[in-house]
Amino acid sequence: MEHSALALRIDGLTVRRGRNVAVRDLDLSLARGELVGLLGPSGSGKTTLMRSIVGVQRLESGTVTVLGQSAGSPPLRHRVGYVTQDVSVYSDLTVRENLSYFATVLGVGGAEIDRVVAATDLGGQLKQLAGSLSGGQVSRVSLAAALLGTPELLVLDEPTVGLDPVLRSELWGLFRELARGGVTLLVSSHVMDEATRCDRLLLMRDGEILADTTPRQLLADTGTSDAEEAFLVLIERHPGERTEERS
Ligand SMILES: Nc1ncnc2c1ncn2[C@@H]1O[C@H](COP(=O)(O)OP(=O)(O)OP(=O)(O)O)[C@@H](O)[C@H]1O
Ligand SMILES: [Mg+2]
Repeated sequence: MEHSALALRIDGLTVRRGRNVAVRDLDLSLARGELVGLLGPSGSGKTTLMRSIVGVQRLESGTVTVLGQSAGSPPLRHRVGYVTQDVSVYSDLTVRENLSYFATVLGVGGAEIDRVVAATDLGGQLKQLAGSLSGGQVSRVSLAAALLGTPELLVLDEPTVGLDPVLRSELWGLFRELARGGVTLLVSSHVMDEATRCDRLLLMRDGEILADTTPRQLLADTGTSDAEEAFLVLIERHPGERTEERS
């Protein structure tokens, strides 16, 4: 049973990666137009959860329904944008050539390229080889590619890593604008202060969602004044069952 207001519905998702249970019996629903932050320490399962949502992860059990369809099913290809944690642009192509390539794969026209270039402020770099761009510019090319075709769900894995505070803030401004236009965004980050820019916050640890809250509620519940501190309080409150070291 699918509700049209839901962009995502996950029931009982468990994923094993190697010897690790990377996601453990997880349930999650996202409403359309929500800007959702996904935070958690390294190895907590953020990327694995995102891979499950975009349909590139083998699931152990559970169901993942995206925009009313099974995750990864062909009709979703145009409706879901994904930016991986690793660079996914071709360094020997220019910015425009990269975007033209992805636009061709998606079957969208050149006007779309102009739109995403404007949105990510890459107009000055169109003729530059991607391999010669700065880290922040490369991140924006990845994001621009994910925006092609106006996806309804955007899954962004640490899109602001390596960006200076001004660019980070600009990107969050763009995320907010997209959400206002009805796009659902799931954005992972290590930077806790970015959490305050979301409508809703998911804190992951050991493959589970430790807290599903709002920025304001998180601070109120933990009696702290910043998200970083709040997360530490939550971790202390919920000592993990698994104590083995992760690297
Ligand atoms: N290819 C793989 N083979 C085996 N185990 C893996 C693989 N990829 C991830 N894992 C394990 O799955 C767990 C979750 O990893 P995941 O990459 O989802 O975490 P993450 O929260 O995205 O971490 P980070 O913040 O460092 O990106 C970790 O224990 C990790 O070691
Ligand atoms: Mg990750």
